[in-house]
Amino acid sequence: MAEKIKKIPTHIAIIMDGNGRWATRRGLPRNVGHREGVKAIERTVLACLKFGIKYCTFFAFSTENWKRSKEEINGIFDLIRDYIKKEDNIFEKYQIKLSSIGYLEPFPDDLKSALADMKEKTKNYDRMQVTLALNYGGRDDIVRAVNSLIKQGNNNITEKDLLDQLDTKNIPEPDFVLRTSGEMRISNFMLYQMAYSELYFPKVLWPDFNEKHLYKALKVYQKRNRRYGGLS
Ligand code: IPE
Ligand code: IPE
Ligand code: MG
Repeated sequence: MAEKIKKIPTHIAIIMDGNGRWATRRGLPRNVGHREGVKAIERTVLACLKFGIKYCTFFAFSTENWKRSKEEINGIFDLIRDYIKKEDNIFEKYQIKLSSIGYLEPFPDDLKSALADMKEKTKNYDRMQVTLALNYGGRDDIVRAVNSLIKQGNNNITEKDLLDQLDTKNIPEPDFVLRTSGEMRISNFMLYQMAYSELYFPKVLWPDFNEKHLYKALKVYQKRNRRYGGLS
């Protein structure tokens, strides 16, 4: 990783996929894959910090993931809660602001309070912002935003009005969206916000993702020519 990266994306968003396959291939329960997936989040946050990436968003639980078994869902919730409330957490250690997108209401109280607590503790940090997408769906985000605009009495809105109501209102749109495990789909992630994101689908399963994979991804991003419909 000797070569310097010149064009660093401001916001990188990651669809972390392949935890289940990683575990199944080893004859292990799916939740072991999720546990390793949390370690990959930690590695990736530290690597983003090193590369100077300001915003990093992780898709951790989608509005469709409720279709999985209770055991798997509760296992994921426990892992997220424990990760957020860890004594030696990287958020406080490296002054990283923690935020979330998604509809939190259906989550267990212990997870919600751990999240609220860490958000409060890190709210003034500006070195980097890590956002967890929890019970997040791109369609749900848009529908909730539209409903609050209706509640405010609007009957004619602009794109800016909608952007200002989305869960991502305080985060720039993602420059670079990466999905691991080789699946090439968006799975209801930030649908509105990804209109001009650069997409990248490395084959690596999420639990194996490390700084070298991120470096390789950033090298790919260097070569992209973002035209936004214009000419270059
Ligand atoms: C991603 O890994 C984590 C979540 C969706 C919570 P998966 O659990 O989807 O892993 P695969 O796709 O089954 O391998
Ligand atoms: C997308 O992965 C959601 C998260 C990474 C949280 P899934 O594994 O749930 O997506 P599909 O079912 O393969 O589209
Ligand atoms: Mg998957």
